[in-house]
Amino acid sequence: MDVYQAVTSRRAVRGFTDQPVPREVLERVLTAAARSPSGSNLQPWHVYVLTGEPLAELKKRALQRVASGDAWDEREYEMYPADLKSPYRERRSAFGRERYGALGIAREDWEARQRAAAANWDFFGAPAALFCYIDRDMGPPQWADVGMYLQTVMLLLRAEGLHSCPQMAWSVYRKTVAEILHPPEGLVLFCGVSIGFEDVTTGHTRSGRAPLDETVTFVGDAVRQAHAA
Ligand SMILES: Cc1cc2nc3c(=O)[nH]c(=O)nc-3n(C[C@H](O)[C@H](O)[C@H](O)COP(=O)(O)O)c2cc1C
Repeated sequence: MDVYQAVTSRRAVRGFTDQPVPREVLERVLTAAARSPSGSNLQPWHVYVLTGEPLAELKKRALQRVASGDAWDEREYEMYPADLKSPYRERRSAFGRERYGALGIAREDWEARQRAAAANWDFFGAPAALFCYIDRDMGPPQWADVGMYLQTVMLLLRAEGLHSCPQMAWSVYRKTVAEILHPPEGLVLFCGVSIGFEDVTTGHTRSGRAPLDETVTFVGDAVRQAHAA
């Protein structure tokens, strides 16, 4: 699989089979992903890989919290700006339409949306997951480093025939995650990532993207090859 195939075939998969992910594969992916770039080579990611019994225990505890209507843990970072402006607001609405439309859930059916979102706490059925933390005193450039690292992990998983779903959702139950992982003081949980083989019977809609000229501006004399020849 070349890099373009890895990039275009990666998507947030929300339905996995229970086929186990071999430890060697995870080690291979995470060893290669460590080659990700970071400012001054800080490598600010702290990763925990979860499978088997501890994964099952985390699912159980998270689902118990949902069932008992437990409040979310206080936030350590805001997932989104409080008042999303255009064009992000419209993109977020389009995401909701795509995500829940694929499951046949109407926009106003809040309960059905909540039920679908609750699949986060089951890692969408995945048999493996990772959690990525970052030191509390790191700033935006290091958070960007962590993002690059996670995308590298997700692309390498594609090269292994695996799929993934990044999950910021886990930050709302970060204390429950910490009960299982026991991270050192001073780390902030950024997100979880579900990992496994896709259950191809789970419905999905391919997410859209803004057209290139909405997000990219060419400045200078880069010429199309056809004209340059
Ligand atoms: C940092 C990050 C956090 C995300 N958190 C969640 C999440 O908690 N639950 C979920 O179902 N999807 C989550 N996603 C997946 C996004 O919704 C998805 O990447 C986006 O809609 C684009 O779709 P695609 O990845 O399928 O191309 C997250 C993605 C990123 C990059």
